[in-house]
Amino acid sequence: MIKNLKKRFPVFKKNKNLVFFDTAASALKVDTMINAVNECYSYEYANIHRGIYELSSKLTKRYEDSRLAVSKFVNSPSFENIIFTKSATEGINLVSSCLSDNYFNDGDEVLLTSLEHHANLVPWHLVSKKIKIISAKIKSTGELDYNDLLDKINSKTKLIAITHMSNVTGSITNFDEIKIKANKFNVPILIDGCQYVPHKKLNIQELDPDFYVFSAHKLYGPSGLGILFMKSKWIDRLEPYQGGGSMIKNVDTDSSTYLNGFQKFEAGTPPIAEVIGLSASLDFINEVGIDKIYEYENELTQYAYNLMIKSNDIKIYGDFSNQTSIISFNIDGIHFNDLAMLLDKKNIAIRTGHHCAQPFMKHFKISGNARMSVGVYNTKDDIDYFIKSIHEVKEILKS
Ligand SMILES: Cc1ncc(COP(=O)(O)O)c(C=O)c1O
Repeated sequence: MIKNLKKRFPVFKKNKNLVFFDTAASALKVDTMINAVNECYSYEYANIHRGIYELSSKLTKRYEDSRLAVSKFVNSPSFENIIFTKSATEGINLVSSCLSDNYFNDGDEVLLTSLEHHANLVPWHLVSKKIKIISAKIKSTGELDYNDLLDKINSKTKLIAITHMSNVTGSITNFDEIKIKANKFNVPILIDGCQYVPHKKLNIQELDPDFYVFSAHKLYGPSGLGILFMKSKWIDRLEPYQGGGSMIKNVDTDSSTYLNGFQKFEAGTPPIAEVIGLSASLDFINEVGIDKIYEYENELTQYAYNLMIKSNDIKIYGDFSNQTSIISFNIDGIHFNDLAMLLDKKNIAIRTGHHCAQPFMKHFKISGNARMSVGVYNTKDDIDYFIKSIHEVKEILKS
């Protein structure tokens, strides 16, 4: 059981009655993370990696210590596999662009799914002059159709890019069979872990993806920072994504050579304070315990789900047996935006629309739905108030 953590999130001091159910979009910010960023800018700031002076070298050490903290958090084989980007989106764009330059041949197949966030679709569309995009279906329940996906892996498949946890349904992808088939055809896997990492322990060595991305802002951390895990063999093989300072060995006016390791993917001044902030937010998660977070959020989601299914007019998307922290739904006869607007009047924040997952919505022939998603700060009281408010809003809108 997790004690009420609202007091660790300053937003609740100003908005005492806020019931925040939009963590899947971005998590609220924890006090120690805000303080770490504030301290960094107030007292510790200088550009890193370049300065000989103490302020710079101290902050360089803290920045690189954060890389170690991230590496430890996901059980990466080494900190040298952790690349900081400006977002998870940029991480996927980096991989699609670099693979297009250094790996794909014309006509190679990239296997995606209809469950993906646009961030794991559009970067592949951008290189689709070279590759052929194949998409695995989803079932009528909203679950990934594993048989269809496995059938579509063949000798032409050169990459599989899949979400670890759907941002629409909260369902968690099981990679066991996917990995077996992928290994048979020697296909690398990119996993989009944006939704998974804040809720469940990630053991990257056990999962063994070639690429894995996630975002700091969904981890109670700062926005403007993404994390890309890349296996060493790809770090060695791929050429830089962007050029500039920090990633070079030698530069002439007409040519340059690059550093060899992860540094070659970190051109320019990085998001320094954000990386420091992320480390503080990981400390917070470690303090609470990621397994406890998973258990607690599961309990909350299950509690909400059990109350919601009592109403015949609420349709929930996705199979609830293997999911966490997200409930996507529509209410018969009520537009999701009307629902969200009236809930907002009661201080409840939910997300509505297509959730950057238009293929999912097209599958269900809907323009969008309502999504409630929980974080560590939510409580059963929040859920009781949410369910009561849904009933009140239904009465208003249906009368
Ligand atoms: C599953 C998933 N993938 C990718 C992203 C993109 O993350 P970001 O906007 O932080 O780059 C999100 C954001 O909501 C997401 O939920």
